[in-house]
Amino acid sequence: DHYVLILAGGIGSRLWPQSRQAYPKQFLDILHVGKTMLQSTYERFAKFIDKNNIYVITARDYVDIVNEQLPELIKTNLISEPSRKNTAPCVAYISFKILKTNPNANIIISPSDQVILDAQGFEAASIQALDFSDKNDAFVALGIKPLYPNTKYGYIQREQYELEKNIFKVKTFTEKPPLEMAQTFIASGDFLWNTGLFVWKAEAILKDLEKYQPEMYEAFAEIAHDINTENEEKAIEIAYNQCTNLSLDLAVMEKSENVYIIPCEFGWSDIGTWNSTYDNMEKDYLGSAINGEKIINVDASKCVVNAPKDKLVIVQGLDNYVVVDTDDVLLICKKESEGDIKDYIAEVRKKY
Ligand code: GDD
Ligand code: MG
Repeated sequence: DHYVLILAGGIGSRLWPQSRQAYPKQFLDILHVGKTMLQSTYERFAKFIDKNNIYVITARDYVDIVNEQLPELIKTNLISEPSRKNTAPCVAYISFKILKTNPNANIIISPSDQVILDAQGFEAASIQALDFSDKNDAFVALGIKPLYPNTKYGYIQREQYELEKNIFKVKTFTEKPPLEMAQTFIASGDFLWNTGLFVWKAEAILKDLEKYQPEMYEAFAEIAHDINTENEEKAIEIAYNQCTNLSLDLAVMEKSENVYIIPCEFGWSDIGTWNSTYDNMEKDYLGSAINGEKIINVDASKCVVNAPKDKLVIVQGLDNYVVVDTDDVLLICKKESEGDIKDYIAEVRKKY
């Protein structure tokens, strides 16, 4: 039985000042396609996963936003987390929860900050992964054939041998490598971009969690009897308090023996930074990506410019800049310096 777990609890700080802790990127329509990234993610899955089996997990602070953006989502499938502990605790919690009602649950986990241009190709790859995991004791990653040495993504190395049509065993995981390493990966031909899209049987992942992260496993096993009762919220808070901040990749995937990968091409990108936003937007004749209704580009080339609908903005003479105007913050920085945005946020927090 197929389920999806959509992760929507990140804070998206690299897209500041448009993405804010109070209202992060997954709840925004950064590319101006007419819906938010969370809504696009939900829609993509609703085409082939039963509505009753679509779950969204997010921080408590964002529950109202998710409710507002996804009126179709079954209320009890909106899961709130007491604190931010990255993706491994999400998976532990939801596996215990779904396993209670369905011992055969097979779950695809999905980030909520991605663009996928070929929804049909995505559906086909997801179904192949779910089927493989149904039949085998296996975790299956959807990987993307890398287009260039992007250092903002994780890389997954596959074995040479093709197990069955387009399915390979996984050899190594590397999270966000330095440029030279990424270049070597691309040249070798057996590395794929880590999309964060993984398929696993709830039962199998809990077995591996018990083996590789016994403390986290215990924290949830101890309160499992309270899940789906009125004590759930309190019990989960206790479990989360015992968890360290850990990603699923680090916690289990990198260690497990049974990880497979399907190399895919479905027009995927992670909308995590202003550069990736730029890459995914239409450009004007000066090569600038203009996002706003009253922006006048006089002579600004290869820029990404973002402003609220009713804000009048004029850009002249800039080359390769990020300009993001919001109601209360204006950011103007070189595209190549966007890695420093985290430092600006820290500075702002200190001063104001
Ligand atoms: N519920 C919940 N709770 N969701 C979370 C949490 C949390 O504590 N932390 C992150 N998320 C969600 C985010 O909202 C996002 O949808 C997803 O998990 C991934 O988090 P990001 O913060 O966007 O990760 P990343 O982009 O830096 O890196 C990951 O994704 C890349 C591809 O998109 C890694 O898996 C990389 O290896 C990968 O290439
Ligand atoms: Mg991301």
